[in-house]
Amino acid sequence: MPRRTVFRRLAHISLNQEIRERYLMTFSARWLYHHIQHFPMLTSEALFGNQRPLELEIGCGFGEFLCALAEANPTANFLGIDISESSLLQAASQAAKLNLMNIKFIAANARQLYPLFAPDSLQAVYLHFPDPNRRRKFRKRQIFTPVLLDTVSRALRPDGYLSVMTDHSEYFHEMLELIEQDHRFEKTHAERYLSGFGAPIISRYQRLWERHGLPTLRFEVRRRL
Ligand SMILES: C[S@@+](CC[C@H](N)C(=O)[O-])C[C@H]1O[C@@H](n2cnc3c(N)ncnc32)[C@H](O)[C@@H]1O
Repeated sequence: MPRRTVFRRLAHISLNQEIRERYLMTFSARWLYHHIQHFPMLTSEALFGNQRPLELEIGCGFGEFLCALAEANPTANFLGIDISESSLLQAASQAAKLNLMNIKFIAANARQLYPLFAPDSLQAVYLHFPDPNRRRKFRKRQIFTPVLLDTVSRALRPDGYLSVMTDHSEYFHEMLELIEQDHRFEKTHAERYLSGFGAPIISRYQRLWERHGLPTLRFEVRRRL
């Protein structure tokens, strides 16, 4: 199935104002560009008013993975970023259904938020099923770049980790090679990478691609001490 079809199937939902305010922040690209200093840092203190460990998913889509993590780990905070506000309306609705108090979503281009990542602030960063953007004119939209690795290596706590998974073999091997050349990170597993990962929480993208016979490829790295 072409990847574009998945996005066309997105249902637009409306959300009551209270739920929207509790879970969803929309950061305008223009304001981020001109007035980044007015936006909160992406820390537990600034976003949740407490010191709990913070886990971040970049490109969280409908938020199923992150909501399930937040429900299972009430003593940590969870932040999902996605450029698609309509996906995040669904994510916020799911968070409200589960009555979660430890999750928030930001609608923004993740790349514009890098200056808001604080040093030693994140327990985990998830990049799951990032859009591959293989066509040459879209390559510059790829999220997994040296700039992302600079940002994540600064923002992870010393025991923090980065988890990357995708069904897209070519993109996966590109990301794997990049991470293997970066000595600020080390793998948390002995294998070069993991295949057919049995995640406890499987997002609809993972279900979709696995139904189409595409195994999930994954690596996890931690910040080298
Ligand atoms: C294939 S979906 C994966 C969603 C989710 N991680 C999962 O595993 O189900 C990729 C998501 O990345 C988002 N995305 C793409 N580029 C982005 C960017 N620059 N900033 C934030 N989100 C982005 C898309 O809107 C989409 O929701």
